[in-house]
Amino acid sequence: MEYTTLGRTDLRVSVAGLGCGGFSRVGQRAGKSEAESVSLIQQALDLGVNFIDTAAAYETETIVGKAIAGRRDEVVISTKATTGRGDNLASPDAFVASLDASLKKLGVDCIDVFQLHGIAPDAYDYNIDHLIPAALKEKEKGKFKHLGVTEVPPLDAHHESLSRAIEEDWCEVLMIAYHVLHQSARKIFTVTREKGIGVLNMFAVRVLFSEEGRLKRVVDSLVADGQLPRQLAQEEEPLGFLLHEAGARNIIDAAYRYCRHTEGTDVILFGTGNPDHLRANVESILSPPLPASDVERLNTVFGSLVDVGLDAPGNVKPI
Ligand SMILES: NC(=O)c1ccc[n+]([C@@H]2O[C@H](COP(=O)([O-])OP(=O)(O)OC[C@H]3O[C@@H](n4cnc5c(N)ncnc54)[C@H](OP(=O)(O)O)[C@@H]3O)[C@@H](O)[C@H]2O)c1
Repeated sequence: MEYTTLGRTDLRVSVAGLGCGGFSRVGQRAGKSEAESVSLIQQALDLGVNFIDTAAAYETETIVGKAIAGRRDEVVISTKATTGRGDNLASPDAFVASLDASLKKLGVDCIDVFQLHGIAPDAYDYNIDHLIPAALKEKEKGKFKHLGVTEVPPLDAHHESLSRAIEEDWCEVLMIAYHVLHQSARKIFTVTREKGIGVLNMFAVRVLFSEEGRLKRVVDSLVADGQLPRQLAQEEEPLGFLLHEAGARNIIDAAYRYCRHTEGTDVILFGTGNPDHLRANVESILSPPLPASDVERLNTVFGSLVDVGLDAPGNVKPI
């Protein structure tokens, strides 16, 4: 495994981080048993993955707690409390109660990275006025070490909330959507690198690259919309040029390697319920950069796209 320091925190974190939410929830979405999910997390730990991300909303904190029991020193734990949206904004009391429940479920005295989960742009001011002060009080009590924030990609493709958060002193870590067809986070990376804010990369693969046929459908519609060159619609595999002897093993391999070797990302999160996918993803994240000419082509062809690949598969609620 390779490790890096997460921004200006003192945390040494693996560059591959296991996400226990997303559409897999370490296998819970697919009906795996709790024991199978515990074993999946332990498989990640055995491979040297020490960054484990969960959230109250994922309902996987108890599973994480069981997986890390007796191994607390090996692990950097990140969890989140829901901040709410629209008329359902979390009250400071509910937010703090969520933090306390997380500590219990995880079976730890202190969380390494505690995050405001999914601040939508229209709820940003509320969070600043009410939830951040509440969080900072709990930080002083020693309940967590570092405060972070995550965006809601489908509602915030232009990173409005994180553009504001990176200007604030409390923001030590953030989680942002970044992938081959949605590269706009680079403008945020310029500032996070300057200020030493740790960057957790989500959505590297998500549904766009993992659901069969999805990438082709999305590319075809972007071609029809005039956002991509016409020639791409003729390709059976729009990113097929990445697959060659010196290049990527497959498109998912390419997607993780692209994110891993972008300057400014610290931890590449991957979500899975499948032990084979877990092994493959760690291998991809630890693989060398894609050939420079391939990266340049990805940046030239897809660099101006925004708000692509942020949606959910049919009838599955995103969390
Ligand atoms: N706003 C937020 O705070 C927020 C939002 C979303 C995600 N997150 C965090 O980010 C983490 C990563 O989520 P993500 O959805 O962005 O994960 P991702 O790694 O980009 O994509 C995961 C999806 O790809 C599939 N997959 C993974 N590896 C594969 C492989 N090698 N071959 C084929 N399919 C593969 C998974 O299904 P299988 O189970 O079949 O492998 C899953 O459906 C989450 O777990 C969560 O911790 C946070």
